[in-house]
Amino acid sequence: MTTYIGTATSRVDGHAKVTGAAKYAGEFSAPGLVHASLVASTIAKGRIARIEASEALSLEGVIDVLTHQNRPPMASADSAYKDDVAPEGSPFRPLYDDRIWFSGQPVALVVAEEPEIARFAASLVRVEYDEEAHVSDVYGQRTAAIALESATNPAENPFAPPRSRGTADQAFAAAQVRHRGEYHVPIEHHNPMELYASTVIFEPGGKLTIYDKTQGVQNVQRYVASIFGMKPDEVRVMSPFVGGAFGSGLRPQYQVVLAALAARALQRSVRLVLTRQQMYGLGYRPAMIQQIELGANADGTLDAITHEAITATSQYEKYYRQETGWSGLLYKCANARYTHKLAQLDMPTSCDMRAPSAATAVFALESAMDELAVALGLDPLELRLRCYSEREQHSDRPYSSKSLRECYRQGAEAFGWDKRNPVPRSMRDGTELIGWGMATGVWEALQVPIAVRIVLTANGHAEVSCATSDIGTGTYTIMTQVAAEMLGLPLDNVTIKLGDSTLPQSPVEGGSWIAASVSNGIATTADAIREELLRLAKQVPNSPLADTTPGEALLADGNLVNKRDASRAVSIAEVMRSSGVDRIEQEKTTTFADAGSHAHNTHSAVFVEVKVDEQLGVIRVTRVVSAVAAGRILNTKTATSQIMGGVVWGIGMALHEETLIDHKFGRIMNANIAEYHVPVNADVHDIEILFVDERDDIVNPLGIKGLGEIGIVGVAAAIANAIYHATGKRVRELPITLDKLQR
Ligand code: MOS
Repeated sequence: MTTYIGTATSRVDGHAKVTGAAKYAGEFSAPGLVHASLVASTIAKGRIARIEASEALSLEGVIDVLTHQNRPPMASADSAYKDDVAPEGSPFRPLYDDRIWFSGQPVALVVAEEPEIARFAASLVRVEYDEEAHVSDVYGQRTAAIALESATNPAENPFAPPRSRGTADQAFAAAQVRHRGEYHVPIEHHNPMELYASTVIFEPGGKLTIYDKTQGVQNVQRYVASIFGMKPDEVRVMSPFVGGAFGSGLRPQYQVVLAALAARALQRSVRLVLTRQQMYGLGYRPAMIQQIELGANADGTLDAITHEAITATSQYEKYYRQETGWSGLLYKCANARYTHKLAQLDMPTSCDMRAPSAATAVFALESAMDELAVALGLDPLELRLRCYSEREQHSDRPYSSKSLRECYRQGAEAFGWDKRNPVPRSMRDGTELIGWGMATGVWEALQVPIAVRIVLTANGHAEVSCATSDIGTGTYTIMTQVAAEMLGLPLDNVTIKLGDSTLPQSPVEGGSWIAASVSNGIATTADAIREELLRLAKQVPNSPLADTTPGEALLADGNLVNKRDASRAVSIAEVMRSSGVDRIEQEKTTTFADAGSHAHNTHSAVFVEVKVDEQLGVIRVTRVVSAVAAGRILNTKTATSQIMGGVVWGIGMALHEETLIDHKFGRIMNANIAEYHVPVNADVHDIEILFVDERDDIVNPLGIKGLGEIGIVGVAAAIANAIYHATGKRVRELPITLDKLQR
């Protein structure tokens, strides 16, 4: 029985957000604050030959123009630029030297009294380049792409392609039905509502307080301190609110280096807010080419899978995730082979974007499975059931929990899947063809070591603090619920502090791992608070809890109670008063023990209806049912919002999103949200989210598996499959625009 966990509690920060009281990185100020604007490279590769800033400098209100030639010192070793989630390679350093790595790279920073002056002055800075030949097209790099080695120890490199299993070639030769397809995903950009921004407050003596848009304040704090050779306590990074990030804020972004650089150069407080266009120079979901081959028996069991991927990264870092591994993980199949190559482009390093690798790999896999179902003459859902794996396939482990079968059952029922006519083009509504498609989604249930501090005061108020972020997912709210539950307090008596590098240790918020990590972290620290209260309560004269053991003690309704006998209780206020303490403080680090004996995954089944205008090819996603198994759901309201956001993003991935590059210049052509299309309200129709009951006593004490990312996985494939069902046309290239239907 729970009081707050699992309820549809509204966001505790909702009022602050809608009234504007919640402040974001670019909204903080300081006396004498000045404003920076950046000048970006117009070439993709080469060197800066000359920078002419005199015209900009002569403008009234311009304070300085910083370049690699006049900037303050910064570290020279690669190690100083390695943040917690940096891939292998040599991280990008803004304004470091004359080298140009990508179009849009910052080459100068104008600082002025007003942002408008800074921006105008930036347009007056003239840069001459020695240009070199560049590559920006992943399709041109098929042969040049470099192969990644398979994982010899997955614990050391979880992103390397898994080792192959069985004998795929023999299995293909023996297979009764084979399907091979090549699937394309373009570069996509995160496009969070909040622009990337840093406000750096310069304190006398040189200490920096930085309000930064980031998913990890301590990651940024360590990064800035090491780049500028500062002591850890000379840099404080805060990010109380984040207006979406989706992975783009996992690594420190260059605006924070530039703003700190300017603050140190000028000994003044500086704010830098990137433009939407400049944000396209930060990071992106890598373009990828994926080839999948499936071999099956006529009865619909899988014999062999091969997954070959080529993904894009930069010339200076090797970013990749385990794209290929999802194929061999999801379904029962004895033989699997993976190949993953990296195409190095003259572009910024690609980066994590919600459900990195799964969103894209599962599009390919689940499209291929749909094609296999067609080849077998089987219902696509039936094929998934025949290939269902009760054990994780890479290392033949049990799952801590896996309720995917229930997702299929409940999702299909809610959708009405049994009324589907399997024949393509057989269902219609007037001039529109109707298509029904489905796909599976899968993600990891990750958890990370985390520290939580709780301060309980005699008035029955608890302050819970942790350096984690709330990137818009609802972390403030679920932390409040869990703390109120564990401490037996009303929600209103709990205050959350997060997004501040001085708070107890937390890794970046990503990978859907924070809900599980911080909730169990709160439980651990709350246990310590309860034990301390019990210790004090036993000292109260004639204590009703004198012989109560820690295991029997419970916090409820502001009291410490014996679980077995509710009449033996004493109020928190009384315990503290009689012990002469006015606060109890505990800080504990929680780690997660399961040493790989079980696989931890979340799953979903996505059912989609599309309507396609037969003449024009216009596609509408009219109905989506997403049934999700993600362990214990902490808050049905914020959880539904997360999955709904993921579904909407899946619609964007399937139908709209594509970063277009002019390969002649190696430059992004649609670096704005007018030309980079994302779904708008008119593109979003009925979306139904179901959470299936999934009890998991193994993954962590509270049975939480996280759900920030699972919502998008599988959606693009389900839509592509529905479009095939509607039209009889298979499109293997995202986004599925109407021209591709007419080809
Ligand atoms: Mo998410 S791509 O882990 O922020």
